[in-house]
Amino acid sequence: MIESEIGMSQDFINSFCLHSATCGELRKDAVDRDVTLCGWVARRRDHGGLVFVDLRDRSGITQVVFDPRYIGDAFELAERMRPEWVIKVDGFVRERPDDTANPNMETGEIEVVAKTCQILNTSVTPPFQIEDDIDTDELTRLHWRYLDIRRPQVFRALKLRHTIAQAMRAALNERGFIEVETPILGLSTPEGARDFIVPSRLNPGKFYALPQSPQLYKQLLMVAGMERYYQIAKCFRDEDLRADRQPEFTQLDVEMSFVTDDDVMSIMEGVMSQVLAAVGETHSFPLQRMQYKEAMDRFGIDRPDVRFGMELVDLSQIMANCNFKVFSNALKAGGVVKAINAKGAGDWSRGEIDKLGNIALANGAKGMAWIAFSSDGAVKSPITKFFSAEEFENMKAALDVQPGDLVLFAADQYDVVSAVLSSLRLHLADALDIERKGHALLWVVNFPMFKYDKEEKRYAAEPHPVTRVRDVDLDRSESAPLECGSYSYDLVMDGYEIGGGTIRIHNADLQLRVLERIGMSEEEAKTQFGFLMQALSFGAPPHGGIALGLDRIVMLLGGYQSIRDVIAFPKTSSGGDPMTGAPGYVSARQLKEANVSIAE
Ligand code: AMO
Ligand code: AMP
Repeated sequence: MIESEIGMSQDFINSFCLHSATCGELRKDAVDRDVTLCGWVARRRDHGGLVFVDLRDRSGITQVVFDPRYIGDAFELAERMRPEWVIKVDGFVRERPDDTANPNMETGEIEVVAKTCQILNTSVTPPFQIEDDIDTDELTRLHWRYLDIRRPQVFRALKLRHTIAQAMRAALNERGFIEVETPILGLSTPEGARDFIVPSRLNPGKFYALPQSPQLYKQLLMVAGMERYYQIAKCFRDEDLRADRQPEFTQLDVEMSFVTDDDVMSIMEGVMSQVLAAVGETHSFPLQRMQYKEAMDRFGIDRPDVRFGMELVDLSQIMANCNFKVFSNALKAGGVVKAINAKGAGDWSRGEIDKLGNIALANGAKGMAWIAFSSDGAVKSPITKFFSAEEFENMKAALDVQPGDLVLFAADQYDVVSAVLSSLRLHLADALDIERKGHALLWVVNFPMFKYDKEEKRYAAEPHPVTRVRDVDLDRSESAPLECGSYSYDLVMDGYEIGGGTIRIHNADLQLRVLERIGMSEEEAKTQFGFLMQALSFGAPPHGGIALGLDRIVMLLGGYQSIRDVIAFPKTSSGGDPMTGAPGYVSARQLKEANVSIAE
């Protein structure tokens, strides 16, 4: 039962209410009990002289019988009731005769015979059926989200979110963490997305930025001696949206002092194990820790779904002297040749393979070479003619090729090859219906500290710029920035990044050096991060932390396709809220007060 999970007895909850029982709780042991139920009319069936109403609240559905012998003149009320009317019924619980018991309903063995009834409210006809498994499109459901949430499966998603959030809080409370709120109106934070900005009426021409995360505030709390902080925090990022990305989303944000990266990871493993237990799942701990480089080499992505193989195989050496220009040119240009083996796709048609080629192109490939090994032993491919027998055999051995396999190649710079083959790998897992049971959690650690931003022609921080460079790499952060590792760790589940964090720089000089390395002048660094660097100079303790994406965790543990399914009032992919109409226009007066003018 729903309420008992949150530790209160149903009687205690009901004692403050119009009702004395919920629509989901009554069983055979309640027979003959007088009860008062409140809820929504889910369905009404008129059996001429008897009316049956399925009464629904968030806990379930109970059948209520209106029989003139018990309810007298009020019977005509029951005949008028329509779906979604809100009613209050006093009556008694009766066992249903054997042949009318409904094994598909939790309360199917009993019914409540109404003695009096009160209409608490009527309802206009809802735009869709308030029940599970309807095929109403998402836009319509979001337009009427409050009706959508009345549907049991949507309610269950929000309930699951509550359970997970409470488990997170309990796990951190037990470990001495203190929940602290941080401002929503602040300065830009260093997560690297676009900010949502808010004009300040009192400071004409100035703007607040909504936090992309509470990153800098939580570091300041460490300087402040808080030692262990957490917050279930709303974060705002003006990015292109996807199924796992919303413009406002929720993090379990955590920071701690006097810790190493090992400590942060093991504390968070404790938290995750309690979260999993709260939803009836288990996983073995400690989790695997995979170096970033290994994740990229084997899976082409820093958030690998390790529940299935089809790993990337590097053929650069085997193909070093091959006659296929596409491969040799890529290698000459400093690139790599890699491939994946899609077992079970060897008999696919040319049309199906061409579709894979389009996915490769969409991910930056210049083409997608392939060899199909049909189950009958035939080999089809536009490129086998270029290989020597030795190259061909070595390639087959490296990819463990059998009849029935389809090998897909990518030859290009490492980043392009990784993006292309990792997308193909995920696409093929779906297309081949490869079993991915249960959940696979792992850490991906030691991200490079810097990357080179080709467009901006400068170095950028790969994690955020408050991250500490690995001690062994400190001396070469100026001379060989791309070779420097960092104290960083992402938590990955089923191919999604569900969390990320780092050990921070706690020394003001080092912080300035890193900011300069990523192309900021001392002046810029001071404007954006001056308050942080100043705080670091006041005896900042060594500290580090992490943020978990609550929406993504709930989505994965609940088996949902999108984080929109687990957010009460989500935005559509164009950033709008179909229910309220947000974002909306504001009046000329508001614009004037905010000192904002709209470009024509
Ligand atoms: P990061 O940017 O990796 O780290 O964010 C942490 C986690 O938040 C989730 N997430 C999102 N979920 C839904 N919609 C989004 N737009 C979105 N963006 C991120 C992801 C991600 O792993 N301050 C650092 C954390 C730290 O270093 O302590 C931070 O925000 O699951
Ligand atoms: P081409 O010689 O350009 O006709 O290409 C021959 C085959 O190689 C075709 O199947 C192309 O799709 C494929 N191909 C082209 N460029 C690449 C690349 N960079 N990586 C892998 N395959 C490629």
